[in-house]
Amino acid sequence: MNSTDKKPVSSEELKKKRDKFLIPGIKHLYSNPPHFVKGKGQFLYDEKGKEYLDMFAGIVTVSVGHCHPKVTEATINQLKTLQHTSTIFMTQPMVDLAEKLAEITPGNLSKSYITNSGTEANEGAIVMARVASGRHEVIALEHSYHGQSHLATTLTGNHNYRQPVTPAAGIFFAANAYCYRCPFKKTPSNCNLECAQDIERVIQTQTSGKPAVMIAEPIQGVGGTITPPDEYFGQVKKILDKYGVLFIADEVQTGFGRTGKHMFGISNWGVEPDFITMAKGLGNGLPIGAYITTENIAQAGQKAVINTFGGNPVSSATGLAVIETIQEEKLMENAKVIGDYFVEGLKDLAKTFPIMADIRGKGLMLGVEIAASEKTPMPDETARIVEIAKDNGVVLGKGGVYGNVIRIKPALNINKENVDACLKVMRKALETVVPVGVK
Ligand SMILES: Cc1ncc(COP(=O)(O)O)c(C=O)c1O
Repeated sequence: MNSTDKKPVSSEELKKKRDKFLIPGIKHLYSNPPHFVKGKGQFLYDEKGKEYLDMFAGIVTVSVGHCHPKVTEATINQLKTLQHTSTIFMTQPMVDLAEKLAEITPGNLSKSYITNSGTEANEGAIVMARVASGRHEVIALEHSYHGQSHLATTLTGNHNYRQPVTPAAGIFFAANAYCYRCPFKKTPSNCNLECAQDIERVIQTQTSGKPAVMIAEPIQGVGGTITPPDEYFGQVKKILDKYGVLFIADEVQTGFGRTGKHMFGISNWGVEPDFITMAKGLGNGLPIGAYITTENIAQAGQKAVINTFGGNPVSSATGLAVIETIQEEKLMENAKVIGDYFVEGLKDLAKTFPIMADIRGKGLMLGVEIAASEKTPMPDETARIVEIAKDNGVVLGKGGVYGNVIRIKPALNINKENVDACLKVMRKALETVVPVGVK
């Protein structure tokens, strides 16, 4: 009997074993987690064969659906041919993927470094920005998430994901563009993009005046789908250019068509960054990450970088197949159409449930902030909605600094029927948590 022939254990048994052998920091989304054993398209299956509509796609990662035939075939073919050499040997899949990334990214981005994760992509981009600029300081945004290494957790403006250890040096935070909870108490009618201007204040008052780089997610993912106004990144870029600061768009969640109109989220704001970092959706579940930068910046980094698994043939061949699938199946266009349909349905639901206080996002990167009157966050209710939805066969995500944002980020090939099924279950969960008529 090989390992794949093993009968899966029950979720109860697995939970006990988990508690014995995994560190407690590995937390699951649910207090009563199912044991998933199979995925197909937009569906997951537990060990008893129960089907779940997956609206979170393995944390915004399964971009073309679970076990997509074309992608799986590319992975298996490569696995059978050549699995590994490391970056010190020349192989074609890594180079082909880098060529494709240069083709689909905006502006003059053309030189890639392929890694195993988003964290590593961000680490690499920050180091390269520091080397190329000869400067050290970095600006990040409050409510951000950039990964789990020492540097990446320091770049993360969310206490939930920062360990109580001495942070990395030289990182400074500006306010984020959180319109629903504007840090400057503004409303759209009197907004002067104070959040963008805050970057200049941080440069002037917290740094040497010459930071190396700023890193930002076009839409903050883990932070709760926080979506800046249309003029935000244009204004930010002007300030960065004034001080000679490079810009990294962390597209680990927003990349590869997820936001609907563009391959990369930052293009929604008409801005060309100096780096794009990516991961998650590029591999559809296989470990991969990358940064891409300009020829000019890349030339500053002549010192050797080795990455044992980075750009390995299997992940690279898979990444290439994922991008081709997104293009061939017009999944970016689908994300726009289905995302708009989803937003309409959510807004309709919010008429009955005012605790759905803010509905935001672009394409299939959506968030619903759950709050009582006075915008009081409702994290317990949010957790219950997500748990009840799971019990009724729908997987939703959860996030936000206050733990009160439902995150909807499914595979890009879901359809209207899936949306209707999700909304029906959300209605049921909301009715259970907040009986109709109660505010
Ligand atoms: C925006 C963003 N950047 C970076 C990361 C880190 O990526 P990884 O978990 O692949 O290291 C994440 C992960 O959630 C992310 O959402």
